[in-house]
Amino acid sequence: MLDQPTMTGPGGGPQLLETLGEIESDSLLALIALANADPRAEKIDVGVGVYRDGIGRTPILRAVKAAEKLLWERQETKSYLGGQGDKKFAELIRPILLGRHAGDERIAGLQTPGGCGALSLGFKLIAEANPRARVLVGTPTWPNHVPVAQAANLEIVRYGYYDRDERRIRFDEMMTVLGGARAGDVVLLHGCCHNPTGADLDAGQWADVARTVAQRGLLPFVDIAYQGLGRGLDEDAAGMQLLLDSSDEVIMAQSCDKNFGVYRDRVGSLFIKTARASATRLAMDHVVQIARAMWSMPPDHGAAVVRTVLENEALTADWRAEVDEMRARINRIRSAIAAADPRLAYIGGQFGMFSMLPVDADQVRRIREKHAIYMADSGRFNVIGMADEAVDRFIAAIVETMDG
Ligand SMILES: Cc1ncc(COP(=O)(O)O)c(C=O)c1O
Repeated sequence: MLDQPTMTGPGGGPQLLETLGEIESDSLLALIALANADPRAEKIDVGVGVYRDGIGRTPILRAVKAAEKLLWERQETKSYLGGQGDKKFAELIRPILLGRHAGDERIAGLQTPGGCGALSLGFKLIAEANPRARVLVGTPTWPNHVPVAQAANLEIVRYGYYDRDERRIRFDEMMTVLGGARAGDVVLLHGCCHNPTGADLDAGQWADVARTVAQRGLLPFVDIAYQGLGRGLDEDAAGMQLLLDSSDEVIMAQSCDKNFGVYRDRVGSLFIKTARASATRLAMDHVVQIARAMWSMPPDHGAAVVRTVLENEALTADWRAEVDEMRARINRIRSAIAAADPRLAYIGGQFGMFSMLPVDADQVRRIREKHAIYMADSGRFNVIGMADEAVDRFIAAIVETMDG
């Protein structure tokens, strides 16, 4: 029984949903709507976070298309799979993600609805084990990190990760924060291709982070959503694997949505390492129980497609070649932008789909109005958001705006 319905509707019942407050609109979604509504044919949308090829499409990968065909021919049932989703999918992702640690029986993984689902499950597991854990988040970061951690009722501690003026990682500050953290605090790290800055830790920095994390008893939680799009499939997981060398407990949220181009199919996995195989089994039981209350089971199609690619040698080789092609395009455009002006040179030394341009919100607005180029107010842009023919025009517009 409701004690005090705040409003009464025409049917005489309580109108509780009408009491909900306004929410701030997602600025990136608003930007996409703005770009879609712009009638100028030459418009460039570098706000949206998807891969685009030389002619501006977000194609279905060849290997994915071929696997979908095979799956359509071979799949005989769509009966329930269970809370862990497609177990073979997780088994096949395992060596790609874990490398030399793939045989470690203290590490287990399961399929999730995309990287978001993995992050969400991971944070909820942490909250169950240690509700007092704080999550150390370097800023800026992907806008969904904080809301997902907060949805698990975890406290957030922000620190500055990237110095926009100096165009470098504020590594000393990061290490000071990690060095002062409490045992059991969670360190959220981008495995590669930092979103939004493109500024990745180098090998030496990963080693320093791994050492401090282990010394202080912190729990590293690595979000790896762009494996293969930075330096290479193996190279992009190398930092995370250093953590596995030195920490008994590591949580990893992995996404296939970018490197298989299956964004809307929601494909990802959560991997967990603890100190003992028995503890890992227990943690996974909790994870499955948490997932049961959220989505019960992950959607099948995308993971089944990825599994079909990875089960097939020829398709796997083609997928790897396609990842190489995507990465080559990203790095080619990075080099072109970096070579255009010394003020943009740093973009050539960054990784993945995103970087931040040295422009303020006012300049971003001018670029949008004058040149029909759409990017986030922060100056974050998708390096491969434009077709090849648009690259020179994009660079000229940025340089003109920086010149004032
Ligand atoms: C850093 C980062 N983590 C996780 C995700 C989530 O990816 P998914 O679409 O698989 O949920 C994204 C997506 O943009 C991302 O940029």
